[in-house]
Amino acid sequence: MQVTYYGHSCFLVETNGKKLLFDPFISHNELAKDIDINSIEADYILQSHGHADHIADTVAIAKRTNAKVVCCYEIHEWLNKQGVSNTHPMNIGGKWQFDFGTVKCLAAQHSSAMPDGSYGGNPMGFLVMNNKENFYYAGDTALTMDMKLIPMWCKLDAAFLPIGDNFTMDATDAVLASNFIECDNIIAMHFDTFGYIKIDHNSVETLFKNANKKIKIPNIKETFSLQASH
Ligand code: NI
Ligand code: MN
Repeated sequence: MQVTYYGHSCFLVETNGKKLLFDPFISHNELAKDIDINSIEADYILQSHGHADHIADTVAIAKRTNAKVVCCYEIHEWLNKQGVSNTHPMNIGGKWQFDFGTVKCLAAQHSSAMPDGSYGGNPMGFLVMNNKENFYYAGDTALTMDMKLIPMWCKLDAAFLPIGDNFTMDATDAVLASNFIECDNIIAMHFDTFGYIKIDHNSVETLFKNANKKIKIPNIKETFSLQASH
């Protein structure tokens, strides 16, 4: 699969011929503000929760591209009120077969509210599974014992994990998460965007190297490929 990083926790993942955009927060990200959101194409937007640093550009991109937004029920209702009608409401524990594969919604240990203060339901992570590759996008979350369930559902090729600490787990916990999910191919997210989550890249890379694991700390606007291993 091919992955492009748009900063913070925003990735465009091309899998099975479809473009999946996760948590678009670009135009308000100081580190990514030279990216033109009008240049981004998407077939789907997967929305982990309602915090502004994940949803700031969702309405604009969804309206322009008509990408289907996959999100929890409460965010689906909120988006409908903003004039975004192509939505698919889900909730934790549920799965649905889309044309690119199956999405299963997982619990994230975090909080959620919409940028205007309205109720945003519960935060989620996503498992994306198809006959080419399986990957996990954790969203904003602490390390949780629930992650140990994931290997019972699928063999992962890659996982997107937050490593910035303060609001989510840190890199040390991401190593433990990597053990829990039985996946040694980790892509870092939710780091460096603001002061609270600035990280030392070298020490994170050393941490993973010492655990015999791969961590990709992507550069903004970088496109890279992930090899399926299952
Ligand atoms: Ni959050
Ligand atoms: Mn966040």
